[in-house]
Amino acid sequence: MNETLRIQQAHRSIRSYKPDPISDAMLDQIVAAAHRAPTSMNAQEISLIVVRDAEKRARIAELAGGQAWVFVVIAIDFHKTGLGVRKAGQAQIIHESMEGFGVAATDAGIALGTLITAAESLGLGVVPIGGIRRNPQGMIALLGLPPLTFPLVGLCIGHIGDDMPLKPRLDIKTFRHDERYDASGYPKAIDDYDAEIMDYWKRIGHSDGVAWSSNLGNFYKQVYFQQVKPVAAMQGLLNDK
Ligand SMILES: Cc1cc2nc3c(=O)[nH]c(=O)nc-3n(C[C@H](O)[C@H](O)[C@H](O)COP(=O)(O)O)c2cc1C
Repeated sequence: MNETLRIQQAHRSIRSYKPDPISDAMLDQIVAAAHRAPTSMNAQEISLIVVRDAEKRARIAELAGGQAWVFVVIAIDFHKTGLGVRKAGQAQIIHESMEGFGVAATDAGIALGTLITAAESLGLGVVPIGGIRRNPQGMIALLGLPPLTFPLVGLCIGHIGDDMPLKPRLDIKTFRHDERYDASGYPKAIDDYDAEIMDYWKRIGHSDGVAWSSNLGNFYKQVYFQQVKPVAAMQGLLNDK
């Protein structure tokens, strides 16, 4: 076990922050870590919008929930790549495809994970906020995002107020498959996990906490962020090439 592994294995989302600012030097280091992350085809088809302005953060909290000293939005950015493609005398179409959305979402996830490890290595707390996709049009207007971009996920970063215990996960056998996929242990693992997470909610005094399967039932029975597809299409993305 080294320090990086210790930090990664101690991850927990923080939802209570102190108002103290994060130094420019710390923020620069966190962003530089994500800037260095791998990116498919070296395309670098994502951008980060770092929001510190208090009014803008309050508006983001209204749109999406989540509030800390800085809010970093990770946006798909095929506007940037389009300039390179045009310079090469070609017309970009990748942004209209499932491949394009998938590859940008993968790179965004890598950037998100890198920001998280970097921030946590400095003793800061984080919580990712996918809630920005509830009203992507509001985020686009607030951040001045041009066509061929889309705000995919945000990250609150701040000094930890109330710390949280680690949230249990499904058994690692449901996550790691050696050589061949094996779902035979899933039903028992889900039963055990539902019980374990109810204990966790009780332990932290979260009286309205529900079992993992019920939580997923509530969300996954519907497309919970209905604006993603129409707004992505309005931005010129995902036209099913
Ligand atoms: C892509 C992504 C989006 C998320 N969006 C939200 C969100 O909008 N609001 C929120 O409170 N937590 C959000 N979370 C945090 C998850 O709820 C949290 O990671 C999960 O419950 C596991 O808890 P832990 O991070 O404390 O281990 C998000 C996490 C990820 C990875």
